Amino acid sequence: MRIDIGMQKGGVGKTTTTINLAGALNDAGNDVLIVDADPQGGATLKTGHRDQYRTAEYALYDVLSEMGQLSLDDLNELISTGDEFDIAPSHLRNFRLEKHLYSEARGVEALKLALDRGDVDSTYDYVLIDSPPNLGPLADGALLAAENVIFPSHANTIAKDSLEILFDEIDTLEDKFDDVNISTVAAVLNEVGRDGVSAEMKEWFEGTFGEEYVFEIPDWAAVEHAIEYRTSVFAYDPDDAGYAWDADKVEELCDRYGALAAHVEGLSDD
Ligand SMILES: Nc1ncnc2c1ncn2[C@@H]1O[C@H](COP(=O)(O)OP(=O)(O)OP(=O)(O)O)[C@@H](O)[C@H]1O
Ligand SMILES: [Mg+2]
Repeated sequence: MRIDIGMQKGGVGKTTTTINLAGALNDAGNDVLIVDADPQGGATLKTGHRDQYRTAEYALYDVLSEMGQLSLDDLNELISTGDEFDIAPSHLRNFRLEKHLYSEARGVEALKLALDRGDVDSTYDYVLIDSPPNLGPLADGALLAAENVIFPSHANTIAKDSLEILFDEIDTLEDKFDDVNISTVAAVLNEVGRDGVSAEMKEWFEGTFGEEYVFEIPDWAAVEHAIEYRTSVFAYDPDDAGYAWDADKVEELCDRYGALAAHVEGLSDD
């Protein structure tokens, strides 16, 4: 199953959700690939692949643009293996991809073709695509490639507008491409504060997505400490990291992301 973690609004927790859902799915016994489709390389840098991001010989740019040695057949050339999950990292050069894909007739379909030809679905149980914070061809390409989407969002009133813009984009893609049907996997309300989500926002999210499709992740430093440790919360060792007091929070976070992973597994069994 492929899932796009998408939201054009910046800083709402796309990368954090991608890494921790990958950790949770791995913890449940699955093989997981993260595809970092964001030229800013959040998932790549936060999982410790800084050198690859800056200096790797090949980039997603080369695979999707087919301008050099690589072609759409070669996505596997990019993949780095890891303890929790593998990653097809981003690269500085991918900033050029947006412009390139805009000018290509089938640019938006390139990522889907590369994932199909790389046969990722037979190697991995789950492929999670960390999307860039815009509505350009890479973000559209991630929606098309996965046809499943998780919406990370802050639980504020701006979120409604952001989601409506994204729903419109999804409708446009479904109209434009035959046989494309993009399903909602879940909404993740991220960085929920101490007082929880306002009753009104909770009602709106649950009314829009259905109660069992809405997941809340608290605003806790432990989330950031795990990222600093270059793992999901599942492989994070608070003692080793020097934040022994994170232990209880980590347990709770594993439960929350574990519930999201169980929900995802439930949908992929259908
Ligand atoms: N639940 C959380 N608790 C505390 N901090 C969090 C939480 N989720 C995310 N953050 C922090 O918020 C910031 C933004 O998160 P993240 O990078 O995941 O968002 P993003 O949507 O991927 O951003 P961008 O749009 O720039 O790609 C990061 O510094 C991250 O560590
Ligand atoms: Mg990000």
